[in-house]
Amino acid sequence: MIGSRNRAQPRASRPWSFSGMDYSESKKKRNFIGKIVLAAVLTVLCIYMLKNSSGFSTPSLFSRHEPGVTHVLVTGGAGFIGSHAALRLLKDSYRVTIVDNLSRGNLGAIKVLQEQFPEPGRLQFIYADLGDAKAVNKIFAENAFDAVMHFAAVAYVGESTLEPLRYYHNITSNTLVVLEAMAAHGVNTLIYSSTCATYGEPAKMPITEETPQAPINPYGKAKKMAEDIILDFSKNSDMAVMILRYFNVIGSDPDGRLGEAPRPELREHGRISGACFDAALGIIPGLKVKGTDYNTADGTCIRDYIDVTDLVDAHVKALAKAKPGKVGIYNVGTGKGRSVKEFVDACKKATGVDIKVDFLSRRPGDYAEVYSDPSKINRELNWTAQYTDLQESLQIAWKWQKLHQNGYRSSLTSSF
Ligand SMILES: NC(=O)c1ccc[n+]([C@@H]2O[C@H](COP(=O)([O-])OP(=O)(O)OC[C@H]3O[C@@H](n4cnc5c(N)ncnc54)[C@H](O)[C@@H]3O)[C@@H](O)[C@H]2O)c1
Repeated sequence: MIGSRNRAQPRASRPWSFSGMDYSESKKKRNFIGKIVLAAVLTVLCIYMLKNSSGFSTPSLFSRHEPGVTHVLVTGGAGFIGSHAALRLLKDSYRVTIVDNLSRGNLGAIKVLQEQFPEPGRLQFIYADLGDAKAVNKIFAENAFDAVMHFAAVAYVGESTLEPLRYYHNITSNTLVVLEAMAAHGVNTLIYSSTCATYGEPAKMPITEETPQAPINPYGKAKKMAEDIILDFSKNSDMAVMILRYFNVIGSDPDGRLGEAPRPELREHGRISGACFDAALGIIPGLKVKGTDYNTADGTCIRDYIDVTDLVDAHVKALAKAKPGKVGIYNVGTGKGRSVKEFVDACKKATGVDIKVDFLSRRPGDYAEVYSDPSKINRELNWTAQYTDLQESLQIAWKWQKLHQNGYRSSLTSSF
């Protein structure tokens, strides 16, 4: 009631009839003109806003499918393997979107990729956390992906025994988020980064894809659960799925553009190649070989070291051969086991540094012997590891490490 009475009041009684002057006629005219001007301004403003809203603006090259161009979402593309995969995809004329929360990756790697491929529609980087389902859905809604290579993960066996929940969340739960977004937005090809850690410690070597999966640490278990989710989903979908179980990844871009640069605080959980280089650079006093009483020829653990250049080649081949409604599971390794002692010797030769080595007792969660049977991937994807000389792979990686002693933060020229 109060409202309607106020609205019915004559305008002359409102505050802007000032000074008691009677100018009602000219005021009416001005009112009318004012209204027209206001309407015009509002119309122009609306058109401007609509034009600038995503619905009216020229769609970005990433938001529409283009015949002959395959747009790949690379999760974790700021990390070691993801950045190398993005480089290879870009080199092969794929369109690439990298999504990474930079929790473990490097913006420097993205910058290198952007410098290499500055043309519009080649590479975009989106800073986002895959644990944020809303953000992930928005990314899928705004981009026209043809395929996903899902690398993003926390990936340290030792850390997973200390922080298991973090691993189940980051690996298993986030894979579910990605898969749901793919299903909701009709993205039908998934290449998934899995690991030999899903096999645990099998009695029989080499490991084939038929070897039962019995992981013994949260990292391996979280990856196995993610695989199971993908496999269950694929049973009633026409998604093309390739699950690649990597063995131990080493090396770096032979042209020296990218390298492996984990956060310094992760060194203690680190991988053997990183530790070797750190020891060679004097960042750490020496190497600690954990376990010399394993049931192996020289008592140290046996691993299958796969060069990152070969690994990303396997991804590109898997992408090319992925078929709707089909699942391919492949081991990606060289098929050759190398002992930690052999590795350390190769590292000493590659770096030219006589690294100090301490032999300690075993580390919990480590398996004695792990190496692959890569015959399935050789046969079905026509893939074979090319970089099988350990010393050569380490030499390539060492070159980058020497020039990037602070990772991607600066390019220090070393005294070596
Ligand atoms: N390096 C190996 O030897 C090895 C072996 C087997 C399997 N893998 C698998 O390969 C993949 C890549 O490993 P990597 O060695 O390159 O590791 P990395 O740590 O170098 O890269 C992982 C990337 O994922 C990003 N990331 C992590 N959590 C994220 C999240 N919630 N949202 C968005 N981005 C996130 C990180 O910032 C990082 O850039 C992982 O899935 C890992 O499990 C690695």
